[in-house]
Amino acid sequence: MDKLTVRDADVTGKRVFVRVDFNVPLEDGKVTDDSRIRAAVPTIHYLLTHGARVILASHLGRPDGKVQDGLRLRPVAERLSQILGRNVPVTGDALGIGTVDAVKRLRNGEILLLENLRFHAAEEKNDPAFARQLADYADLYVNDAFGTAHRAHASTVGVAKLLPPYAGFLMERELAMLSKLMENPIRPFAAIVGGAKISGKLKVLDTLMSRLDVLVLGGGMANTFLLAQGKAVGKSLAEHDMVEEARRVLAAAEKAGVKVILPVDVVVAKEVTRGTEYKTIPAEKIPASWHIVDVGRATLDLMEEALATAQTVFWNGPLGVFEIPSFAHGTRAIARYLATRADAGATVVVGGGDSVAAITQQGLADRFTHISTGGGASLEFLEGRELPGVAILQDRPAPPPKARATKRAPAKSAT
Ligand code: 3PG
Repeated sequence: MDKLTVRDADVTGKRVFVRVDFNVPLEDGKVTDDSRIRAAVPTIHYLLTHGARVILASHLGRPDGKVQDGLRLRPVAERLSQILGRNVPVTGDALGIGTVDAVKRLRNGEILLLENLRFHAAEEKNDPAFARQLADYADLYVNDAFGTAHRAHASTVGVAKLLPPYAGFLMERELAMLSKLMENPIRPFAAIVGGAKISGKLKVLDTLMSRLDVLVLGGGMANTFLLAQGKAVGKSLAEHDMVEEARRVLAAAEKAGVKVILPVDVVVAKEVTRGTEYKTIPAEKIPASWHIVDVGRATLDLMEEALATAQTVFWNGPLGVFEIPSFAHGTRAIARYLATRADAGATVVVGGGDSVAAITQQGLADRFTHISTGGGASLEFLEGRELPGVAILQDRPAPPPKARATKRAPAKSAT
């Protein structure tokens, strides 16, 4: 998994196509969470200070091949300009004569951002002609978009086939941190897996099972596990067709000696909306017409007790309906607890939008070992799958075998 990085390339005076993941949340034309932009800055800064001509490229949202003004990259360029303290112009389109000219005019140490790649359907189709047009802008290719590395698109795979491809620093760090979880986690190793659905998380549960000591389950997906335990979940979100799978996961955990923590008390609400009536009750007593929306205090205590000795923790997915503040307490509380585990020296790695938001909103980010910029990508990586945007990057050649120690013949004495 050791890939050549920008450090291995001679970038001075070169035009460098840098795929970044600037797929960030926007509200009223402003970036509301700039973590992904900040995460790409070390690579951008390195390239600029080494005299490269930097052509940044990203997608934003899912415009499905059509121009959508609400998904233009201007707000992102504005935020990046503030962070870098210099103007980052954004082109009107990823292709076209104006963009070709703008790229040609770039001088050493200058930067521009191409407009949203997904305004062209060819991007997601990994269309070779589109990839060729993008590759023609540059001499070298750098992928720093770990969050999009699970997509085989023109800008993540097609262009990388046409130019010498290197990993950026963010990509390098993400791969190093996540590989550490897969290869040699310090035990006890715990995973907290939440979020709406078990179906998207089954593979990662299967892969992690042989490595884990503790598995904490929360969010909507825990409801399917409660069903598997024979509990009623009322009107809660649950995947009834996955109950057998949930049973299989619980049996596999038992066989592997993995301690599983499921909710023992929950917050239930009349409706899954703001301002509705809600209360905390035992998980055995869910009324038929109520919805589970968060974990209760007793569950959090159990979770914290199980995590108290963990030396490595991976967390993906909220424990409740995080977007409604009254039902975000469990997720926010576990974020605070994990920060204390990280303070105590445990390796704590987090991926996934809501889990990361629970950390950043509470100003805890600096205390974590690693906050992945890839939700889907980090899960696919931990499923043991090869990410197309990573596979295409150049492997670092193995170091030459050490010169064999040769026995010296004793020096002949001159007679
Ligand atoms: C993400 O936000 O997970 C990445 O940017 C990938 O976006 P996508 O799921 O729309 O491909």
